[in-house]
Amino acid sequence: MSEAIIIAVDGPAASGKGTLARRLADHFTLRHLDTGGLYRAAAVRLLESGGDPADAATAEAAARNLAENDLKSPHLRDEEVGQAASILSAHPPVRAALLAYQRDFAATPPGAVLDGRDIGTVVCPEATGKIYLEASAETRAARRAKELRLRGVESIESRVLQEMKDRDARDSGRAVAPLKAAEDALTIDTTGLSPDEVFDLALSYIAARVG
Ligand code: CDP
Repeated sequence: MSEAIIIAVDGPAASGKGTLARRLADHFTLRHLDTGGLYRAAAVRLLESGGDPADAATAEAAARNLAENDLKSPHLRDEEVGQAASILSAHPPVRAALLAYQRDFAATPPGAVLDGRDIGTVVCPEATGKIYLEASAETRAARRAKELRLRGVESIESRVLQEMKDRDARDSGRAVAPLKAAEDALTIDTTGLSPDEVFDLALSYIAARVG
């Protein structure tokens, strides 16, 4: 039995996973892993070498050869990278290549908060607590457009919305580790909720499990 406290936060793009995961990690003094960053970093590596994310072998090579530096790329959060990450992440060998790193990270005491798409279902099915965040596509597109604006990237909200819907469909429809709530997860619809309200709901649920 691992001593680690593991908290899984899953959900679609811009549902508030990152914000909640960071706050829970701070609160419980746990480490935090944004697992989307791993898929994004593999996508950056692949796009920079002119590869095609739809090609399984190229995508797997990018995931297997990930280096610390790839996680620091200034392009990590680009929408183009998000789309490529979503294509590349559907290949089972890519997911397999990144699994051990995520599990080791989670199991290292004192434990960790991992946010992603399949943490509660595949990466850490034995997690201490599981939260699944959702929000309407329109709300999530508005959040993402605001995020991009703050980074100085002008975007058209209707396009952000379309890209988000494409990515949702791909992430939910893939055969391996699709985006879905674990049966034992607490689902929170964050549409119309402030980050503080989401945190409070999550905290009372997790606190009861951590003891
Ligand atoms: O921040 P955002 O929600 O836009 O995306 P992300 O969490 O950075 O993830 C980018 C892409 O990586 C997603 O669209 C998924 O296809 C993939 N991903 C995944 O397959 N499994 C995870 N645990 C995390 C991300």
